[in-house]
Amino acid sequence: MRLLILNGPNLNLLGLREPDIYGREDYEALKALVYRSCQEAGLEAEIFQSNHEGELVDRIQSAYGFFDGIVINPAAYTHTSIAILDALKAVGIPAVEVHISDVKSREDFRQISYTGMACVKTYMGLGLEGYRQAIFYLKEYLDKQRGDCEA
Ligand code: DQA
Repeated sequence: MRLLILNGPNLNLLGLREPDIYGREDYEALKALVYRSCQEAGLEAEIFQSNHEGELVDRIQSAYGFFDGIVINPAAYTHTSIAILDALKAVGIPAVEVHISDVKSREDFRQISYTGMACVKTYMGLGLEGYRQAIFYLKEYLDKQRGDCEA
């Protein structure tokens, strides 16, 4: 099974960016954690980061037929992007949303998640560990879905 891990704007600056909120580990550390977790879960992984909404939409569209699940941290687009929400709904690939910080305890403008409306689960406030949990959750979710289809 193949997972696509998508990261939105400014996540490439992890480590540098507001370390009190997002931690001191950089984007390379996040990539290493994602690859390690997918390997442990027996999944293939591809990771993509973009600062551009349309590129994220394009990547979701081209995942159709090639990926079984998506882990997505849309970053600021979480709170604004109906285009990413629509893309996730269009392809219908099971997706899990991740936020490094606990968005629920932050500013009012972070309280809405459009993209989360197309996701089967959201992890937030766990730091990079949230990605690991999302990967293992998605693995179980996809295994169960396959089991149900075969039954
Ligand atoms: C974030 C939370 C968003 O509100 C913010 O815009 C981000 C990162 C997180 O991982 O905690 O860029 O998605």
